[in-house]
Amino acid sequence: MNKPTFLTTGGAGFIGSNFIRFMLSNYKDSIKVINLDSLTYAGNLENLSEIDHLPNYRFIKADICDEQAVDYIFLNNDIDFCVHFAAESHVDRSIKDPSVFVKTNVLGTVNLLNAAKKHWQTGTGFKSGKKFVQVSTDEVYGSLGAEGYFTEKTPLAPHSPYSASKASADMLVQSYFDTYGFPMNITRCSNNYGPFQFPEKLIPLVINNARAGKPLPVYGDGKNVRDWLYVEDHARAIDLVARKGTPGEVYNVGGHNELQNIEIVKIILDSLGSSHDLITYVEDRLGHDRRYAIDASKIKSELGWEPETSFGVGIKRTIEWYLKNNGWLKNAASGDYLKYYERMYGGTNP
Ligand SMILES: NC(=O)c1ccc[n+]([C@@H]2O[C@H](COP(=O)([O-])OP(=O)(O)OC[C@H]3O[C@@H](n4cnc5c(N)ncnc54)[C@H](O)[C@@H]3O)[C@@H](O)[C@H]2O)c1
Repeated sequence: MNKPTFLTTGGAGFIGSNFIRFMLSNYKDSIKVINLDSLTYAGNLENLSEIDHLPNYRFIKADICDEQAVDYIFLNNDIDFCVHFAAESHVDRSIKDPSVFVKTNVLGTVNLLNAAKKHWQTGTGFKSGKKFVQVSTDEVYGSLGAEGYFTEKTPLAPHSPYSASKASADMLVQSYFDTYGFPMNITRCSNNYGPFQFPEKLIPLVINNARAGKPLPVYGDGKNVRDWLYVEDHARAIDLVARKGTPGEVYNVGGHNELQNIEIVKIILDSLGSSHDLITYVEDRLGHDRRYAIDASKIKSELGWEPETSFGVGIKRTIEWYLKNNGWLKNAASGDYLKYYERMYGGTNP
């Protein structure tokens, strides 16, 4: 029997690389994984150095917006699951330059959809066992007040160019199901934390700056609430949705760990033994959503998913990981991680 083949886009990023490691350690050599990533500033192949020698793993450097490259990959590999992480993902960058978010997150997604549709289609529908998973975010729902949760029925009301581009992509993915019966799911997850996150995001940034005694910028009053999930729990949810999710459905993913940004910063400072004096409040982010919180009861009841890592355990593990992997953090913060590709692949496309 052929091994199921996962085409993972954006697999050199934070969640994608955690997903690939999770899949290869769980399913060993009973699956194949292709990692399609263009290696933007957020793509770091060092994230995959533990597994990049495996014969059932392959990296392809390509842009999801490149029609020919994406078509070629589908033509030459019998892709069963396309798990789509590749995106511009940083809200602050989207406020500065929305265009690249539209290009990658919207046009890139359509490009992948078209290739998958073309190669999965039969005369009467789609080959069985195929699935496109759009990895999306709770940010597409907009902002909550002090009460309530996002469900899959909450209307999309994105506020930042990032979340607007993800919402647009989600609607296009859904439209391929509604129009063509294309086999897809969408996952919408809350904020992830864990190893290998690029240090422009809150948790690794705070660890990195605090260790260097640098100020810790905190937006506004620091009381914006995010719902945090350990990245491996997200990876497990995506795997379940890919294999067992009902085609056409959206699944919210979250761990009911609501915390204010300032609380996260203080937890990290306390565990590092650093002074709270490093906290520096800065002007609030434009259009800053106040609170996100996910109702994940659908994925729990339909697919039996439960988060396995409590916030207390996960944050401790995460801080320890960054401290132990100081070299990774330094390379990521300084840009030296870019040399890894040169070293490994000598600038040629493997
Ligand atoms: N980080 C979170 O907390 C979170 C939460 C929910 C959902 N998500 C979603 O999960 C996905 C992954 O997020 P992340 O935090 O790992 O992002 P990331 O920024 O760490 O990684 C993105 C990856 O995509 C690649 N990429 C970007 N543009 C590309 C292109 N045009 N072609 C090919 N590859 C390209 C980058 O090189 C990088 O490896 C995103 O779609 C994001 O919207 C993230």
